[in-house]
Amino acid sequence: MSTTFNLDTATSRANPTPQPMRRLTVPAIRARKQDGVTAEPIVMLTAYTARQAQLLDSHCDLLLVGDSLGQVIYGLPSSVPVTMDMMANHGAAVVRGSYHAVVVVDLPFGTYEGSAEQAFATAAHLLKETGAAAVKLEGGEAMAPTVAFLVQRGIPVMGHVGLTPQAINVLGGYGPRGRSEAEAAKIVGDARALDQAGAFAIVLEGVVEPLGAEVTRAVSCPVIGIGASAQCDGQVLVTDDMVGMFERVPRFVKRFDNVAAIIANAAETYAAEVRSRAFPGPEQTYQPK
Ligand code: KIV
Repeated sequence: MSTTFNLDTATSRANPTPQPMRRLTVPAIRARKQDGVTAEPIVMLTAYTARQAQLLDSHCDLLLVGDSLGQVIYGLPSSVPVTMDMMANHGAAVVRGSYHAVVVVDLPFGTYEGSAEQAFATAAHLLKETGAAAVKLEGGEAMAPTVAFLVQRGIPVMGHVGLTPQAINVLGGYGPRGRSEAEAAKIVGDARALDQAGAFAIVLEGVVEPLGAEVTRAVSCPVIGIGASAQCDGQVLVTDDMVGMFERVPRFVKRFDNVAAIIANAAETYAAEVRSRAFPGPEQTYQPK
């Protein structure tokens, strides 16, 4: 793909914009599933920085500014302590670094569950601060009235059911959900409630395989799986897991590369060159004419 410097009329920013490149829309993502069929699976990855967004953008339909940034970027023990400022700053960076994918920002724990009005204020603030097109929130049936409230007021919502990491203190661990019949039925009911409330897509995380396919069949909107099933309408992964930044990742993560090794090797070589006074060499220093 050729790269040219252009003025992006949507943002008034001069940037290298891959051509042709037009940002996808929420209705276009929703319309990818028609009568229960998604001919072209939906591709979503997390992004937290402008550079990461630039690298991922042309390959993805959706970029998720996930609250997983709490663990991945800030070294927090869970997503529970993630703040609005974190989501606003990283969300804005990802929008600045992308031109093609729909950017979705997670609503952080404690900023939306209290009432539909609280959720609207939080979501509107994040959309204004970041320029993202949609928000994601966790929870099923209990959150359905909030989802309807937001959608009716112009805020596209992506749902998130199954394993919901913000509820870690209730769940007690990150193991797969839906192993009992009752829990599986609850997850199907949660997804149906969000679908009927107007969610444009639903993330289904960490469920046993047959349930992934069942939830996908049960709802009209696209279901985006993570540790769910290849039968979902799309897939999402945490990019840092997918590129091999971490030693330990959930079982469902496939490592497509080993970026941690590349960084560690570069640092080792740099350190050796500094210690042996081989860096900077003549190519990296300004020589007198
Ligand atoms: O926060 C996040 O990155 C997510 C994905 C794992 C879906 O919610």
